[in-house]
Parts: sequence; structure tokens; C-alpha cells
Amino acid sequence: MNKKIIIGVIAVLAIFITGFTFNKLKSDDQSDVMINNEVNTKNYENYKILVAYYSNSNTTARIAKILKDEIGASLYEIDTVKDYPESFTEISDRAKEERESGNLPTLKGTLPDISKYDVILIGGPVWSRTVSTPVMSFLSEMDFTDKTVSAFWTDIGKPGNYEKDFQKLLKNGNYKKGLEFTDANEIPLEKVKESITIWLDEILK
Ligand SMILES: Cc1cc2nc3c(=O)[nH]c(=O)nc-3n(C[C@H](O)[C@H](O)[C@H](O)COP(=O)(O)O)c2cc1C
Repeated sequence: MNKKIIIGVIAVLAIFITGFTFNKLKSDDQSDVMINNEVNTKNYENYKILVAYYSNSNTTARIAKILKDEIGASLYEIDTVKDYPESFTEISDRAKEERESGNLPTLKGTLPDISKYDVILIGGPVWSRTVSTPVMSFLSEMDFTDKTVSAFWTDIGKPGNYEKDFQKLLKNGNYKKGLEFTDANEIPLEKVKESITIWLDEILK
């Protein structure tokens, strides 16, 4: 009789332990899936993003368009009423005069309505180791209160203090670390996309 009771208790315990272990394994599996989902979620999908850019010879424009396609952002082109000349020296001279006089170029069209965006990414070329004057104009006319802002810039390897200068020109806004593209036209599409994903994953938590 005692033996029967003992065997019965062991059997019940065995069933209980097996059931518990199985359920535990199952819930561990599920939490793994959730963790994986979290890792795979692209943070930028949770934000409304505007990409505003100036480009004189289409290098920054290429990056801006890849950004738009990759993250589903809206695109705004910063343009000047008066075109810049063709030659490097002439652009450089005019930009120098604009910076030193404070007579920044007048922008074409209307400024973007940023009220519907959470994040504004602002792109442009490096000119004379600083922010190009059309981007300076844009920054002087915009107020980024309550917005997350970051910069991307293209250059040929001598950015100077681009990012610091950009931040000084920025009115309000919560600035996040930007992204440099050197010799951007040489960077393959997949590599540009990868840099964009890593960058936005880091700044948009
Ligand atoms: C007037 C002028 C000044 C420039 N100054 C610099 C510079 O200081 N450092 C640098 O790395 N590249 C400089 N560049 C190269 C541009 O930053 C680079 O070619 C950029 O990708 C051009 O972008 P965009 O085609 O969008 O205008 C300069 C280009 C111009 C036209």
C-alpha cells in the first residue's frame, strides 16, 4: 500500500516537473523571438522625417535621395534664387564674400512646414571647411524648437569643423551626431544604405 502511494507521488511529481520545464522552454523561446523582433525593428520607422538638402553638383543630392528611398522620408531641396557660377574658384570667392559680409544667399521658394515632422536631417557640401552658404541661409531662417535635428555632409576629405559650425548656426532643436560622406560618388549604393541605417539606429532610439 505504502509502495503504491510512493509510486503515485513520484508519478505526479514527474508529470508536474515535465510540464513546468516544457512551459519554461516555450516561454524562453517566445522571449527570444521578441528580442529578435526588437533588434530587427528599424527605429526610424517610428518617426516622421524630413530630409532637407542643398547640392551644387549633385553629390549631396544623391545621398539625400538614397536617404529618402531608404527611410521613406520627405525631401526638400534648398535652392538659391541666384545660381552659383560653374568654377570652383568663383563659387569659393562668392561664398567667402557672403560669409564675411553676412549677406547670405536668398533662398528660392517657400521654406518647408516642419510642424508635421519629428526629425529633420539637413545635408549639404563642405565649402572652405565649413557649412555652405545656402545651408547657412536655411539655418538662419528656420527654428527647430522641439525637433530632433541631425546633419549629413559631403566633402573630399577636409571637412574642417563642419559639424561644430553647423551646430552653432542651428536655432534650437535637439542636435544628434551627424554623418560625413567623403568622395560620396565613389561609395556604392549598398554601403551608403548601410551607413544610413547604422547612423539612424544610433541617433533615433
Ligand atoms: C567652393 C567649394 C569649396 C569646397 N571646399 C571643400 C573643403 O573645404 N573641404 C572638402 O573636403 N571639400 C570641399 N569641396 C568639395 C565639396 O565639398 C564636395 O565635392 C561635395 O561633395 C560637393 O557636394 P555637392 O555636389 O552636393 O555640391 C568644395 C567644393 C566647392 C565647390
